Amino acid sequence: MVTVLVTGAAGFIGMHLCRRALDAGLRVIGLDDINEYYDPALKRARIGQLTNSQFRFRTCDISDYKTLESALSGAAPDVILHFAAQAGVRYSAVNPWVYERANIAGSLNILEWGRRHCPQAKFICASSSSVYSAQSRIPFREDDPCDAPVSLYGATKRSGELIADAYASAYDMAIISLRLFSVYGPWGRPDMAYWLFAEALLADQPLHIYDDGAGMRDFTYIDDVVECVLRFSQRHANFGRHDVFNIGHSEPHSVLAMVRLLEKTLGKSGDLRFEGPQPGELRTTYASIKKLRMAINFAPRIGIEQGLQKFCDWFVEWRNGRDLPIRAITPK
Ligand SMILES: NC(=O)c1ccc[n+]([C@@H]2O[C@H](COP(=O)([O-])OP(=O)(O)OC[C@H]3O[C@@H](n4cnc5c(N)ncnc54)[C@H](O)[C@@H]3O)[C@@H](O)[C@H]2O)c1
Repeated sequence: MVTVLVTGAAGFIGMHLCRRALDAGLRVIGLDDINEYYDPALKRARIGQLTNSQFRFRTCDISDYKTLESALSGAAPDVILHFAAQAGVRYSAVNPWVYERANIAGSLNILEWGRRHCPQAKFICASSSSVYSAQSRIPFREDDPCDAPVSLYGATKRSGELIADAYASAYDMAIISLRLFSVYGPWGRPDMAYWLFAEALLADQPLHIYDDGAGMRDFTYIDDVVECVLRFSQRHANFGRHDVFNIGHSEPHSVLAMVRLLEKTLGKSGDLRFEGPQPGELRTTYASIKKLRMAINFAPRIGIEQGLQKFCDWFVEWRNGRDLPIRAITPK
């Protein structure tokens, strides 16, 4: 039976990946440190969704190599989906060190562990649209230079790609890095705009919008991302030692348009407060997905209207009976 190791298994995308792999009949080992960047109860509840005898969960901080070695003692995964990270652009201006630990040391440790214990494993690592810069051509293409990220978060994700590049060429490991664009959906991330706005609308609180709301995001629905990851794992042998792909819907919407859709879906009218530009945020993110389509014969297909409806259906049920705010950011 194929064994898949998923780092960041208690996270938004990691949990969906675990669920899909278990549904496909695979054995899954999930790793996560369940840190307090946002409410750990949400992370535990995600893990609670993975009720399957083929699922094993281990709490582990991947930035410590010895801890990782002992958490994975005896494991021999065929596929490694490395999705653990300290995410979020804004928080990287508050606590840069946690990004260095989770995203640089953590990624290095996962690759080093793989090199020592299962060099033949197929690696798929989560990167981000944040590796692009304000000067990048639009839509963003994988072969454009990515040497001027505007946030520390982007710099650490780019570092992860470069470390993967070095491991692939030095040790002949097969690695794919996926640059994800604004992923959203049920069991999502409470620090992201769509969640914060939905939460504010339902609580009749003001919506704090950065800049003028005209900034564009290439919102990408979670099920489409999971489908792409699955297809990459099935076709892994077709690619170079280290290959990079964008995963985005390739149809950006303004933040204001996203707010209007949330208002319509939730039947609420928001009190919008415009807060001025945020350092570290790109004005527009827009994925070219030509390379993605060629590689896996698939492109994200769930539009923002349908995707936000699915998120809101889940969110309304999830928050029922819970105190607001659900979100908690605890600086470490
Ligand atoms: N959601 C998006 O829009 C988006 C966009 C671009 C890239 N990504 C990338 O996708 C991946 C998953 O993101 P997500 O949205 O699911 O975020 P998430 O925060 O929900 O999930 C990340 C998980 O990693 C865990 N983690 C963090 N540091 C760790 C450490 N040192 N050791 C072990 N576990 C640790 C966290 O506890 C969390 O559960 C990340 O690599 C992120 O950078 C996400």
